Amino acid sequence: MKGIILAGGRGTRLYPLTVSISKQILPVYDKPMVYYPLSMLMLAGIREILVISAPDALGDFRALLGDGKQWGLSFEYAEQADPRGLADAFIVGREFIGDSEVCLILGDNIFYGQGLVALMREGAELTEGALIFGYPVHDPHSYGIVEFDEGGNAISLEEKPEHPRSNFAVPGIYFYDNQVVKMAEELKPSPRGELEITDLNRVYLERGQLKVVRFGRGVAWLDAGTHESLLEAANFVRAVQNRQGLMIASPEEIAYRRGYITAEQLRALARGMANTSYADFLIQILDERQ
Ligand code: DAU
Repeated sequence: MKGIILAGGRGTRLYPLTVSISKQILPVYDKPMVYYPLSMLMLAGIREILVISAPDALGDFRALLGDGKQWGLSFEYAEQADPRGLADAFIVGREFIGDSEVCLILGDNIFYGQGLVALMREGAELTEGALIFGYPVHDPHSYGIVEFDEGGNAISLEEKPEHPRSNFAVPGIYFYDNQVVKMAEELKPSPRGELEITDLNRVYLERGQLKVVRFGRGVAWLDAGTHESLLEAANFVRAVQNRQGLMIASPEEIAYRRGYITAEQLRALARGMANTSYADFLIQILDERQ
């Protein structure tokens, strides 16, 4: 399976002025926002990753992430000239996807918690249909919403409904079989002018090919798309990391523990970070293993 990080769009929502910086480059506490979705793909075992962003932001991503070899990964980059919708990622990424299955993750979605790694691995094994998730939220007007019947089967999907039929939002991580490219090409833009991921998921639902798994209560899903939620996410990461002495979403750590890079490579990466708590953490992992 291949992975796509969609990291373009309306980053300037964070600022009063229009500035050409991608919000996914900004730190959430001690690391760039994009490390969080990237780590999720890595935990799923996905190593070939396409980063899609606005033309003026792609240079920042290339400078930050490079070709991925430093973490045993392979990154490609593609421009999305206008924010035409989340499902547009499969059109922009058509050649990259080729005949593979694909996982799409939004560049400003942060996930953490019990059971996630197993779910990600399950997603990465998908060969037919689609797998998405449901997560209870107190403001269901702001998300794609999934309704379940009494047996726990998904029965409807709506994008930012005025009258939500449930409080289960669909988080920004989605697994699809290869049909997704053709299905995205056939989608019509919504009234807000976007190719909606919710419309795409509804096609899978209508074909009886959509699996919706609910995240347990132990999972945290944060989106860092506004200054309020960015600060909340940073505080969350800080609180958990300081308490546990463990790092949330370090690509270096995951690459090392998965055997994508050697201890020597990890040490060299840590050395390149000068005197940061991030580097100290990586050194601590190496010391534990000796
Ligand atoms: O966060 C989960 C929600 O994401 C889902 O529950 C919704 O069903 C889904 O439509 C989406 O809703 P949002 O309104 O939060 O999406 P937004 O337009 O803010 O885009 C999410 C991220 O994707 C954001 O960082 C910008 C980026 N983006 C967005 C669009 C529309 C792109 O890179 N390209 C795009 O064309």
